[in-house]
Amino acid sequence: MTNKIKNLFNRISNKYDFMNNIISFGLHNFIKREAIKSLKIEPGSKVLDLCCGTGDLGRIIKKIQPTCDVIGVDFSSEMLKIARRKNPNITYWELDATSLPFEKNSFNYIVMGFGLRNIPEKNKTLGEIYRILKNNGEFLHLDFGEQNHLSFLYDNLILFLSRLFLKNTKEYKYLVISKNRFLKPSELIELFKFNRFEYIKHKNMFWNMISFQIMRKP
Ligand SMILES: C[S@@+](CC[C@H](N)C(=O)[O-])C[C@H]1O[C@@H](n2cnc3c(N)ncnc32)[C@H](O)[C@@H]1O
Repeated sequence: MTNKIKNLFNRISNKYDFMNNIISFGLHNFIKREAIKSLKIEPGSKVLDLCCGTGDLGRIIKKIQPTCDVIGVDFSSEMLKIARRKNPNITYWELDATSLPFEKNSFNYIVMGFGLRNIPEKNKTLGEIYRILKNNGEFLHLDFGEQNHLSFLYDNLILFLSRLFLKNTKEYKYLVISKNRFLKPSELIELFKFNRFEYIKHKNMFWNMISFQIMRKP
């Protein structure tokens, strides 16, 4: 399963940013900025962008707080090639989020956009996030939110657009299935609490179709 997902992201890496713009009508940058702004990152913080893909969240963090030390982690070498090209001021490591070589209490903030959904071993990953966060450190999780009538229409639009622009829907069928199988935002918050995190806040956007949650390591 893990290799299948890694191969999928390696395969779509060249089209990833282009398709994100298409399927979100350019709104993914706005959504990511809103989520990062909510964290109120302190200058000089050490931040991990986990499952960083092509590096959008890290880039936004560097823009808002240039003095932060940002590290990006992903297990797809092809996604990382693009991230490195786009963000020469960020250090990238090719690693699996379920087993991270960082010391405990290393980061002030950990951000994760559209990543946890792809990881079968969620508790193991959250255990790693908890371990390497500093006390009072914050974890931002961003992904699709609730399923509703609108998200059902959106799923069909994603498949239509991927057929139109990629002539292939396989990878984007996976996106739709994984997003619909994923936990609801309220269930995610329970999962985070089960993994010892303290709830700070969450925000639902675009008719609940997008959601982010901010949790703290006490
Ligand atoms: C949908 S992309 C999100 C990328 C980026 N965070 C964004 O918001 O655009 C998911 C990323 O998670 C990575 N990923 C999935 N499972 C992973 C794992 N177990 N360890 C590290 N990275 C993983 C994939 O390679 C992919 O780049």
